[in-house]
Amino acid sequence: MAAAVTAAVSFPSSKSTSLPTRISVISPERITFKKFNTVHYRYRDGSAGGRVGSIVRAQVTTEAPAKVEKESKKMEEGVIVNKFKPKNPYIGRCLLNTKITGDDAPGETWHMVFSTEGEVPYREGQSIGVIPDGIDKNGKPHKLRLYSIASSAIGDFGDSKTVSLCVKRLVYTNDKGEVVKGVCSNFLCDLKPGADVTITGPVGKEMLMPKDPNATVVMLATGTGIAPFRSFLWKMFFEKHEDYKFNGLAWLFLGVPTSSSLLYKEEFEKMKEKAPDNFRLDFAVSREQTNEKGEKMYIQTRMAQYAEELWELLKKDNTFVYMCGLKGMEQGIDEIMESLAERDGITWVDYKRQLKKAGQWNVEVY
Ligand SMILES: Cc1cc2nc3c(=O)[nH]c(=O)nc-3n(C[C@H](O)[C@H](O)[C@H](O)COP(=O)(O)OP(=O)(O)OC[C@H]3O[C@@H](n4cnc5c(N)ncnc54)[C@H](O)[C@@H]3O)c2cc1C
Ligand SMILES: NC(=O)c1ccc[n+]([C@@H]2O[C@H](COP(=O)([O-])OP(=O)(O)OC[C@H]3O[C@@H](n4cnc5c(N)ncnc54)[C@H](OP(=O)(O)O)[C@@H]3O)[C@@H](O)[C@H]2O)c1
Repeated sequence: MAAAVTAAVSFPSSKSTSLPTRISVISPERITFKKFNTVHYRYRDGSAGGRVGSIVRAQVTTEAPAKVEKESKKMEEGVIVNKFKPKNPYIGRCLLNTKITGDDAPGETWHMVFSTEGEVPYREGQSIGVIPDGIDKNGKPHKLRLYSIASSAIGDFGDSKTVSLCVKRLVYTNDKGEVVKGVCSNFLCDLKPGADVTITGPVGKEMLMPKDPNATVVMLATGTGIAPFRSFLWKMFFEKHEDYKFNGLAWLFLGVPTSSSLLYKEEFEKMKEKAPDNFRLDFAVSREQTNEKGEKMYIQTRMAQYAEELWELLKKDNTFVYMCGLKGMEQGIDEIMESLAERDGITWVDYKRQLKKAGQWNVEVY
């Protein structure tokens, strides 16, 4: 049996472009769920000796034998990595490439779709490598750059034959005052439909989605770090799968410099309309918004406004946090968490370690 999928999408750029309506048929994969019980976590409360916490963290399987491999809480079964390597890459074709930031945004971000003919089977949360055409200053082929996949596993056209990326054009001024253009990002942003693109991968398991369709999924993105979350959210809200119907809470925090750089805003608003009880959406527009203290609105500043709620969610063993984007965001988010944990007498680094071990704290920043 198969399920039909429908979602119309448009891009929020000054030259807004629409993707074709998405209608497809999916062959479901079987996902098995295993029963979990819990072990208790010991934490300090500031008093001498500490106490045993009521907060439950790490999970062990009920079929306890030590030899039994621990089952991941993420959709890891059958995930393929490194099917294509730099020595035997896949040559895809650019089908669509469109700027998705406004003309007055600081920097350009493009959404692009490549054909794969189903030969690059990837999962939501994985990345692909791209080897830009041309040679480097030593006359050697360019090295690959990694890009998070921005489409769900069935692709933007719903036929499992494409892969999409969300790429920021890197342009900066060096110490000598020269304008330097990043090799691969400029190659990609300048790609014209019909052009070939050299692809490796797919790679990565850190950012795979949780199996539990009732999970709380907190997604923290800066700029193009939105890519894996667009892929999660399409699967959750724009598609129908026999083996997966999201009925938990997806909460997206997206940090960008200006409202003209808000990526995929219209898509996310459409999701919100479709599933108001299952999707929360919060933007942090750093160069236009401030908090009540007049501080710049970074993603962690926005999160701080929901601090108590987020902390309560983090105490549940089916809450999964994913962070993607600028490296700098990680420290800011840790600081918020540290202060919240402290109020409960918990040391954040220890708590985070437990979350990571359970696959509930997932970070891919660069
Ligand atoms: C797992 C992963 C996923 C990623 N996903 C994405 C994604 O989805 N979208 C995306 O756009 N990018 C993503 N990136 C980043 C991407 O891989 C490239 O690094 C990025 O596109 C720049 O590559 P480039 O070839 O254009 O620049 P390069 O030609 O490689 O130049 C980059 C180099 O320029 C220098 N540089 C950069 N900025 C400055 C500056 N301001 N001042 C001085 N020097 C500077 C640094 O030395 C830097 O290493 C991801 C990275 C990783 C590791
Ligand atoms: N899987 C991955 O590892 C992955 C995937 C995708 C992208 N990336 C990386 O993510 C980065 C995204 O950059 P971008 O150019 O697309 O983003 P961008 O459009 O410049 O937006 C980044 C936002 O984050 C803010 N910011 C700056 N410093 C911050 C900090 N310390 N804490 C929180 N927020 C901060 C910026 O504010 P101001 O500019 O106003 O200061 C801006 O609002 C790139 O470096 C890219 O390589 C990594």
